[in-house]
This record gives sequence, C-alpha cells and structure tokens, in this order.
Amino acid sequence: MSRSLADRSWNRLLTPTYLVAMMSGALSPRLRSIVDALPLRPGLSVLEIGCGPGACCREIARRIGHGFVLGIDRSAAAIAAARRTSQAEGAPEWLRFRHIAAEAYEALPSDPAFDVVFAVRVGALDGRHPQAGRMIVSRLAAVLSPHGAMYVEKEGKLVEVPVPR
Ligand SMILES: C[S@@+](CC[C@H](N)C(=O)[O-])C[C@H]1O[C@@H](n2cnc3c(N)ncnc32)[C@H](O)[C@@H]1O
Repeated sequence: MSRSLADRSWNRLLTPTYLVAMMSGALSPRLRSIVDALPLRPGLSVLEIGCGPGACCREIARRIGHGFVLGIDRSAAAIAAARRTSQAEGAPEWLRFRHIAAEAYEALPSDPAFDVVFAVRVGALDGRHPQAGRMIVSRLAAVLSPHGAMYVEKEGKLVEVPVPR
C-alpha cells in the first residue's frame, strides 16, 4: 500500500469520538482493557504494531517506568498525531514512535529485543489478512527477546500468537 493510501485509510478512522479521545490523550475503556491484559512489568521493552495516535503506548510508558516503548504505524499521519500528543503530554524519553509498516520493520541498532509485541485492530494481524499476518509474525519473531511474546486483539480479547522460534 502506498504511503498516501495508508494515510487515507487512517484518516477515515478519525470519527468525532476518536478525535476527542486523541486530542485529550485519554485512553478509551476498550484500549484500557487491552493494556490491563498485557503482562507488563517495570523496565520491559514493548512494541505496538499499528499504534495509531499512540494512546496505548503512552499508557504503557507510564506504567512500565524506565523501559522502552515503540509504536509503529504505516501511516505518517498517525505517527505525526502520536508524536504531537505525546510531546504535548510531556511523554518520557523511553517512548518512541516510528513511521514504518510492520512487514518492513527492521530493528535499529539502538532498539532492544522486545519482551511484548502487540497489535489492536490491525487487519493484517486479527485474522482479516492471514497471509500478511503470517509474514509479519515471522518477521517480528526475530526482534522478540527469548522469553518475549506476541499478542493481538481479536473481538475485544487479547490473544497470544504462536511465534516461530
Ligand atoms: C484501526 S487502527 C487502530 C489503531 C490503534 N491500534 C487503536 O486500536 O486505537 C489500525 C492502525 O493500524 C495501522 N496499520 C494497519 N496495517 C499496518 C501495518 N501492516 N503496519 C503498520 N501499521 C499498520 C493503520 O495505519 C492504523 O493506524
């Protein structure tokens, strides 16, 4: 998908409710329940695929203290919104956002291995596009820590994804 098409898809999500949540930086009850279900501990490194405006990443960065939280999204508009809101909120320096599609993800030398990788409402990972999902899972398996795990949201529930090791 071209960058502008990714952005057009993302812009269609900008309903009034979503915009209010995004502008206030608030975490919706739906996203809070997902964050609550993740096995978070202080100091973990966490990667969110398809972070959108970054609400989950900001909440996780608050919860884990000095760790590493990276949100990636194939939409430049989503990443710009995530960075803007995070900066306005005074987000910690261990929270980062990067404009890249999951299927193209490559770790930078400064990235740690990830203890938790997760995705919420991302078509390639929630079963809507199984072939793309398999490709992303095998690519991201390479950046998981030895005890790391990958989770996707399916119908409101967080499900662990089997990862090839
Ligand atoms: C429905 S939104 C969900 C955003 C956020 N996870 C939430 O639940 O509020 C899906 C997001 O995933 C992004 N996305 C979809 N496919 C992706 C891919 N292959 N790699 C990275 N981001 C992707 C979209 O650009 C969009 O921002």
